[in-house]
Amino acid sequence: MAITSFDILVAGEINPDLILSDPDLSPQFGQKETLVDKALLTAGSSSVIFAAGAARLGLRVGFVGVVGDDCFGHFMLDALSARIVDVSNVIVDPSLQTGFGVILNRGTDRAILTYPGAVTALRADMISDDLLAKSRHLHVASYFLQTGLNPGLHALFERAQRFGLSTSLDTNWDPSEEWKGVGELLHCVTMFLPNAVEAISISGEEEVQHAALALASRAKIVAVKLGEAGALVCDAERLLQAPAPTVEVADTVGAGDSFDAGFVFGFLQDWNIEACLDMGIICGSLSTRKSGGVAAQPTLEEALAATKIANTHLKDRGSTNSL
Ligand SMILES: Nc1ncnc2c1ncn2[C@@H]1O[C@H](COP(=O)(O)OP(=O)(O)O)[C@@H](O)[C@H]1O
Ligand SMILES: [Mg+2]
Repeated sequence: MAITSFDILVAGEINPDLILSDPDLSPQFGQKETLVDKALLTAGSSSVIFAAGAARLGLRVGFVGVVGDDCFGHFMLDALSARIVDVSNVIVDPSLQTGFGVILNRGTDRAILTYPGAVTALRADMISDDLLAKSRHLHVASYFLQTGLNPGLHALFERAQRFGLSTSLDTNWDPSEEWKGVGELLHCVTMFLPNAVEAISISGEEEVQHAALALASRAKIVAVKLGEAGALVCDAERLLQAPAPTVEVADTVGAGDSFDAGFVFGFLQDWNIEACLDMGIICGSLSTRKSGGVAAQPTLEEALAATKIANTHLKDRGSTNSL
């Protein structure tokens, strides 16, 4: 059943991940065969992991994207629906092939091979005014992979703001390592959510706190993810840093996207940036307990139990999800 209004609208890429894990993984060319400890096919892609994380916290999430009419496309639609993410606005295009990621996972480090496929087909004009009008917040991730979306993203964010939406952007990695185009977007971004390497690369600064402050002179709030060291956040007034809890990590795939879900959840609750940071870190860290991006994302109750945030700070969540 379609959800009629959304806390969060995600305009994003939809890919499964094939995760091959082994502590000593080092694949070799020359037609050599390497055995791996573990393999998992799961819902992947930054936008999908974010959407699943936000829905698990109880937010009403709608997704706009493009998949092919193939087994990976349907696998992803089923995975999103199972997590109560509305996919009625996802376009299934039989002329396209759904992309996918292959993740070679070694401890907390990984190499990522991505075939973008249908990811490049989403354009800003596919996100209608009608959809924006029934949403509170717009999230965009994987800026550098979404090459069909990014030329129209500035206008899309401005259109979203005219409809009263807040916005968030997590660029993730730039495969070209040129990091172009993001700086001009930031003045219409409410929450900019890079990791440390991305913040440094985009800002041109050498040190992460300077990078965050430079980026916060354009975006309203900047949160920079620091892996097992936690994260920092700054706005026009202050810069705060908080550590991550110690977790038994299965892998860190999608931890940044789960952080984003927690952080944006806090923002939509009108929490201060300290509480948003706390929630982002907990959601990121708890997501690492199982392999893949979505399996260990916390429910709201689990996340709150692990933070200092009291239940009493929650707004009435009306008819939001319970999964
Ligand atoms: N090894 C780890 N132990 C505990 N928490 C982690 C670990 N790695 C990541 N996290 C959590 O996930 C969040 C995002 O992780 P990070 O890897 O920095 O983002 P990204 O996936 O975007 O690179 C961190 O802020 C932290 O809360
Ligand atoms: Mg990331």
